[in-house]
Parts: sequence; C-alpha cells; structure tokens
Amino acid sequence: MPISPSASRRRSRDSPSGPARPSAEPATDRLALVLTASAGLEQAVALEVRAWGGAPRILRPGRVACDAPPRLAARLVLGARTPSRIVWQLAQRLPDRPRELVPALAEIPWEKLLGRHAFAVRASGRSPELRHSGHAARVVKDGVVARYRARGLARPEVRPRAPELLVDAQVAPGDVRVGIDLGGGSLHRRGTGRRGRAPLREDVAAGLALLADLAGRRLVVDPFCGTGTLLAEAVALAAGVPAGRDPRALPLARLGPFAGLDLAALGTEGPEPAGLAQVRGLGADDDPDAVREARATLARLGLAGRARVERTPVETLALPDDERGLVLTNPPWGRRLAATDVERAWAALGRLVRRRPGWTLAVVSGDPALTRRLGLRASRHHAVRIGAVGARLLIYEIDG
Ligand SMILES: C[S@@+](CC[C@H](N)C(=O)[O-])C[C@H]1O[C@@H](n2cnc3c(N)ncnc32)[C@H](O)[C@@H]1O
Repeated sequence: MPISPSASRRRSRDSPSGPARPSAEPATDRLALVLTASAGLEQAVALEVRAWGGAPRILRPGRVACDAPPRLAARLVLGARTPSRIVWQLAQRLPDRPRELVPALAEIPWEKLLGRHAFAVRASGRSPELRHSGHAARVVKDGVVARYRARGLARPEVRPRAPELLVDAQVAPGDVRVGIDLGGGSLHRRGTGRRGRAPLREDVAAGLALLADLAGRRLVVDPFCGTGTLLAEAVALAAGVPAGRDPRALPLARLGPFAGLDLAALGTEGPEPAGLAQVRGLGADDDPDAVREARATLARLGLAGRARVERTPVETLALPDDERGLVLTNPPWGRRLAATDVERAWAALGRLVRRRPGWTLAVVSGDPALTRRLGLRASRHHAVRIGAVGARLLIYEIDG
C-alpha cells in the first residue's frame, strides 16, 4: 500500500493550477483542490492523496494541492482521513482592495456554481486592506451578489448558519483566493465521543498514523490509548477503511461536477478496498473509563472486530508476537498526572519496545525531558501542531 512517508518528500511552492484570475470558467473536468491539515501533517495528507490515486503537491505547512477529476475529488471528500478541509479553488491572486476585489469576484460564474442554493462565506487570513475575517467575508459576499445582480438574476439567500454551500476565502496581502468548501466545513468528525482526558482530533490522529509509516503493518499497539482515536485511525488507514462520510450531509450533491456520480457507492470505497484485511490493533490504558470509551470508539467505527482494548498499565503490558509491529502512541505529557508517575510511564514505554527488533515506536511528545526517559535514540522526527501546542512525532526503529 503506497502509504509510506519516504514515498512523499516532494515539496513545491507553486500554487494549485486553478485559474489565476477568473477570466476563464473554472475547469470542471479536473478540479483544483486545496486540502488543509494541521501544520506538520501536510506530508501525511500527500501520502493519503497518493494512496487514493491522486498526484499531490505540498504547497506549504498544512496545505496540499491536487488536481482531481470529480470522481477522485468526491472519493477524497467522502473517505479521506487526514485533511481537515477540502476546497475546490476557483480563483487566486485576486486583489485584496475591496473596490477591486468585488468586480474581480463578479467575473466568476457564481450562478452556475452556486445556483439558487443558500450560501455563506468563510474567510481566513488578513491583509492591510482586509483586516479581519468578518470584513473579508462581507466583501466576498458582495462580489458574489454583484455577479447575480449584473446578470439580472435573483440572488440566492445568504445564510450564515447551516448554509447549503460554503464559499471559502483565503486572504493574504495582494492575494485573495476563493473556492467552494466541498466538505461544507471541518471533516474531522467520525462520530467518536472524544470524552477522554486529552483526545486527539481524528484528522490529526490519522495524520500522525500515516507519518509513523503504516505500509505493510499487520499489528498496531497503543499502550496509552485513551479514547482510542489514534488506534482506530491507524487500524482503519492500514486496512483501507474509508472515513465513510454521509454524502447526504455534504454539499457535493448540490454541485454540478458531481452530478451523475453515485456518491453513496463511492463513499463506501477505500483507497484499496481489498487491502490488509488482517490488520490487528491492540489498545491498553490503565483508566477503566478510557478503556470503555476506546471500546465504544472502535465499535462506532465498525472496527471492533479488528482491534481489542484491555485495561493494563504500560508497566505490565506485554507486546503480542509480530515481526514488525508498530507501537503508535500519545502518552501523557501535559503533566496532568503526578510528574513521577508520568516519568515512570515513559520509562516503561521505552522498556516495552527495547527488546523487539523490527518494531517501530512512534510517539507524540511535547516535552523533551520526558522523551529522554525512553532511553532510545530517535531515527527521525516530525514537528506537528496538536491543537495550539507544538509537539513532535518521534520515530524509533528498534534494531537488535
Ligand atoms: C494523552 S492521553 C491519550 C490520548 C489518546 N491518544 C486519545 O486520543 O484519546 C494519555 C492516556 O494515558 C493513560 N495512562 C496514563 N498513565 C498510564 C500508565 N501508566 N499505563 C497505561 N495508561 C496510562 C491515561 O489514562 C490516558 O488515557
């Protein structure tokens, strides 16, 4: 399965190949997609896009571009696990001065894209001309409305809450980019509860799992599994199970390029449906509530048959037999527990993997002092943002 980090180091600074200015109609046979993730996880998004058959280009931290035919775009929106948003970019390098931006936006054939659907604009970034996102969103909305007015058409309803289609605007000095958010918002939700002590967001967990290198893995172990999110995302990715978003809850069916596609059927397809059916997962935690929550997470995601969870402290956990298993984990490092307990737990994690040649330990840490308690030398690391916190995913290849 082509989901190994070494396969995707290519970096480019270029932009998605959508129209620079909206002089031509946006192509609908190949959509210029921009996929967003937490900074540091762009390589994981690129790996996943490649696994689905796309040709990703890393634009900058947290941003990946991919030109995709509608079928691939739909499959990514329905099934990809690592992007937090997928936007069909319509135009870029638009001027940021409002009186130039509105006419530039009015050149985009919004009436063909949005039709009569109620829409909202979400803006992010800023420039000296558009100092805050609310201002930018209003100006972009004015540009869309100006298009309808210039053609003597009734404008669609602007509906800030629960719009049928969401226009996305990214503002930078002298460069406004607009598109349509194909997921209608964040794609991270999987119906998991996330009631644990420090749950990872699902898209972040999936990104970490891909950076840890899932290629060919048959066993994934999380000794500090908490709500089970990291374990569930890793097992699902390794087994080629798609995120399974409901097409009825997404804007795709309202957009021209996706008309005629059987979205319900596409949503059930993974990148490799016949992939590694035998992938197994083992989660452990010493907190009975966490164990209950992790079991519920796996059951909700239909993964209960692939992974089990036990209540065992890391100090007494035994790894199952496997030649190249992956221990993938986010141990406590926020010092919510007594510091000595946390240090002891990290030292036990180091002991757990030390005598398992062929195994890989991939561990999230925001505290170098705790990382040292492992007593291991990292083979590589990735800087990642977990929410607002800077952390590292450290990878240890265990050899004899
Ligand atoms: C940062 S949380 C894990 C978060 C998890 N990745 C998620 O998304 O929910 C750390 C977990 O380690 C567990 N833990 C703390 N000390 C432990 C120990 N000695 N053995 C096993 N689990 C432990 C806690 O109960 C907690 O659920």
